[in-house]
Amino acid sequence: MDETRTYPQGYEPHDTPDSYDPGLRNQLLDYILQSAPTEIIDTDLFAVMTKRRSTRKFSDRPVEAAKIDKVIAAADTAPTAGNYQGFEIFYVRDPEKKRLLVAACNNQQYVNAPVVLVFCKNPSRVKFDFEPYVLKKFAIQDATLAAGYSQLAAQALGLSSIWIGMFDEQKVMDVIQTSLIPSSVLCMGYPEQTRFPKPRRNLKELVHVV
Ligand SMILES: Cc1cc2nc3c(=O)[nH]c(=O)nc-3n(C[C@H](O)[C@H](O)[C@H](O)COP(=O)(O)O)c2cc1C
Repeated sequence: MDETRTYPQGYEPHDTPDSYDPGLRNQLLDYILQSAPTEIIDTDLFAVMTKRRSTRKFSDRPVEAAKIDKVIAAADTAPTAGNYQGFEIFYVRDPEKKRLLVAACNNQQYVNAPVVLVFCKNPSRVKFDFEPYVLKKFAIQDATLAAGYSQLAAQALGLSSIWIGMFDEQKVMDVIQTSLIPSSVLCMGYPEQTRFPKPRRNLKELVHVV
């Protein structure tokens, strides 16, 4: 592994630019985001939003590495407080760790999915001179928003996902071996079947004009 690159331990993107230069702003990020369209890609953002539906049954079809890179890169495009990026992504690949995560997530079996990302808060990255509780608030927003971006990217790539919020924080931290508190677990893969989106309340009831 090239130590000059800031990949999470053990993570190497599928494809990197030939002339990789860590000093070039967003070179790797842009390269991954703009790499040739993978087999399924929907570039109409609103169509992606309209079609997204949580999936708890994934097929055994493996997810292409290039798609995983795009899903991860999408998280890195989300806005963050002060652009301090107060979050980290743990890409859980070890099958045994995935099994342990199921137990840490209230025994939700579908957490053992083809692709599993744990989004953790990292308030220590948020360098504002504010009270710690504000930094924590920013970090949870950073981590949550980033996971939302990944979830939409997954949909655009023909994948499906389930957002997991029901977990024992300490157990998840033990599994992924971190002192950072998780904010969500995003499980993805090809769905066994495509289903219609769930109904929502009337938009007029959602919005309060003040
Ligand atoms: C904060 C949050 C926590 C969630 N936690 C879980 C969870 O622990 N287990 C689960 O199966 N689904 C979980 N979900 C998924 C929701 O059940 C799902 O998004 C919701 O039913 C709406 O369905 P849709 O995503 O298909 O629109 C969670 C979603 C959110 C946003």
